[in-house]
Amino acid sequence: TTYQIAIIVGSLRHDSFNYKLAGALAKLAPSGFSFQQLQIGDLPLYNQDDDENQDASVKQIKADIDAAHGLLFVTPEYNRSIPGVLKNAIDHASRPYGQSAWAGKPAGILGVSVGAIGTAMAQQHLRNILAYLDVPTMGQPEAFIQAKDGLFDDAGDIGPDSKVFLQTWMDHYTAWVMKHAS
Ligand code: FNR
Repeated sequence: TTYQIAIIVGSLRHDSFNYKLAGALAKLAPSGFSFQQLQIGDLPLYNQDDDENQDASVKQIKADIDAAHGLLFVTPEYNRSIPGVLKNAIDHASRPYGQSAWAGKPAGILGVSVGAIGTAMAQQHLRNILAYLDVPTMGQPEAFIQAKDGLFDDAGDIGPDSKVFLQTWMDHYTAWVMKHAS
């Protein structure tokens, strides 16, 4: 089997640290895992009136989630919570009522911020949302990453200070996905 992982990055910023982190993490996975980023930047603002007539971009992310064995959320913290673009995507794929794409997909959560607590509050809010959506979310290890010089090396890989820590995180995450996908 190839395990397909849908990556959901909570930042649309061109030079996003979280986007870079997601790409570098994907390289730490064992063979047999493939990663695809959900395109959440072009989604319309969620409007319940459209539930029976979802936009093509909404149908696309729902199909991508359906096809995935696992979810990897890599998100910044905005004002001590998750960014609106991420909540918008979560809401879209949770509807219409009874047809959520999220349920049962094992998830990992991490994030990088310039602040010292490294997205801890955003991650806790995200856990609350995912619990409601019946997404089994890996509890340990946690990863709260602060953006500083050397986080990434010149090739865009994880720098030496965080490499072992994030490799351990990915080892647990891939085991978590395999456990829940079987
Ligand atoms: C932030 N930032 C931020 N950082 C943090 O640690 N806690 C916070 O609550 C916030 N709040 C916040 C709100 C808004 C609207 C912005 C734009 C930024 C700073 C944030 O960590 C920084 O911009 C990161 O670089 C965002 O992640 P990406 O875009 O680099 O992935």
